[in-house]
Amino acid sequence: MKFLIVLALIGAASAAINPLSEAQAGLVQAAWGKVKTSEVDILAAVFAAYPDIQAKFPAFVGQDLAAVRGSAAFALHATRIVSFISEVVALAGNQAALPAVKTLVNELGQNHKNRGITEAQFNEFRTALTSYVSANAPWGDNVAAAWNQALDNVYFIIFSNLNGNPVA
Ligand code: HEM
Repeated sequence: MKFLIVLALIGAASAAINPLSEAQAGLVQAAWGKVKTSEVDILAAVFAAYPDIQAKFPAFVGQDLAAVRGSAAFALHATRIVSFISEVVALAGNQAALPAVKTLVNELGQNHKNRGITEAQFNEFRTALTSYVSANAPWGDNVAAAWNQALDNVYFIIFSNLNGNPVA
């Protein structure tokens, strides 16, 4: 019985990751390529849309966004976060890189679980990020579908970690 449950869980886990084709990865990479050097703008857009996210950052809690967005600390955090996304986007569409993506995103999920970040806050981040990219990069139904599939995969891994189950 236990064996069957384990098998069902493995099935559910692998079914929930739906890797991008090379063509879909190309669409996501092209869109991301248009915004990935706008690190400060991206983080500022996220904080402006969702002040509860800003409040989770010890360096920025309670501060005026307009004042901190020009600081070196803001640029540093923004660059770290955006670089992480760039790293994962660069690996999309490459089946051989799937274990590396799982390792990176499991780690992100785990350290954000330790910071007390919730699924709801991750969803807010996703909404703000998607809104920024769709407004600043070539966008259409095919790009949106590939982008959402990529984020569904990443979020499946993050949420599994928030729930205490890293993805194998
Ligand atoms: C897919 C979404 C996200 C990615 C890729 C991401 C990425 C990162 C990275 C790479 C770091 C380490 C860099 C650093 O400490 O400056 C970090 C730190 C952090 N993240 Fe995230 N993050 C995401 C979502 C969120 C959300 C939704 C929140 C809050 C609601 C959040 C809160 C934090 C906090 C509080 C830190 C630590 C900052 C510090 O120690 O001063 N992150 N994030």
